[in-house]
Amino acid sequence: MNPFDSCQYPDQETSGMNRAPGSVSIVGAGPGDPGLITVRGRDRLAAAEVVIYDDLAGGVLAAWCPPECQRIYVGKRCGRISALQNRITALMVAEARAGRRVVRLKGGDPFVFGRGGEELAALIRAGIPCEVVPGVTAATAAAAAAGVPLTQRGITSAVVFLTGHESAESPTGPIDWEAYARLGATLCLYMGTSNLGEVARKLTAGGMAAGMPVALVSRASCADQRVRLLRLGDLLRGTFGAFEAPGLAIIGEVARVASAAGELASLAAANA
Ligand SMILES: C[S@@+](CC[C@H](N)C(=O)[O-])C[C@H]1O[C@@H](n2cnc3c(N)ncnc32)[C@H](O)[C@@H]1O
Repeated sequence: MNPFDSCQYPDQETSGMNRAPGSVSIVGAGPGDPGLITVRGRDRLAAAEVVIYDDLAGGVLAAWCPPECQRIYVGKRCGRISALQNRITALMVAEARAGRRVVRLKGGDPFVFGRGGEELAALIRAGIPCEVVPGVTAATAAAAAAGVPLTQRGITSAVVFLTGHESAESPTGPIDWEAYARLGATLCLYMGTSNLGEVARKLTAGGMAAGMPVALVSRASCADQRVRLLRLGDLLRGTFGAFEAPGLAIIGEVARVASAAGELASLAAANA
């Protein structure tokens, strides 16, 4: 049985000594547009007594969280990431042990560069009924914004999610960019707005052509989203201007399809 079922979510008793055990639902908020959270995620928010949320989840919270629900911001502005992570875990456990229905709301999908795995493990260790509600991750939102299919028959059958923000202490060692350059897969680069030039240099060193198409998408799905189509060589030369965060780069032959779609769109406009 799913341990989460045992907490009678979301109709549990809400007061007094007989209060049922609390629970934590780790919910993916999606990329920013409140319409891109899942139905289950929205239901969990509607039933929440406490929401613990971070930077990329604010719009979804404003749209779907009931006014009486307590909202606790734990985004990057709150302090050092490692200390913050311990505090977030302690907070989730304490609120659930107090018998409250907790939603831990995270940008995108909790299990894609979201530390959702660490939080889930801590909750399980503490014996808290918990679940994960997946979300639309930034790569798929950026792909939709740019009109770039991440895989396409005849172009590529593989896609890779990578961080452009490598930690020097990573236990898995440095990213083997040269190997990824040769893979023939679509590369979706998260957290790479500030070091695209360096990533481009490593990819070309691994044999990727400077003419490889790239789509840069900032704030995918939000009202002020921005899409630019360019080439790996532009990243090398640094001639692409500002790349506003949060931003995601899609690097691969599939990005050619975006230019074709753009031409079709302008053709349709010209014929209208
Ligand atoms: C810490 S990671 C969290 C990723 C998140 N868990 C997900 O599944 O999308 C943050 C990075 O996600 C990407 N990102 C998040 N939201 C985005 C958006 N709306 N548009 C473009 N990139 C976004 C950016 O690369 C940003 O640096």
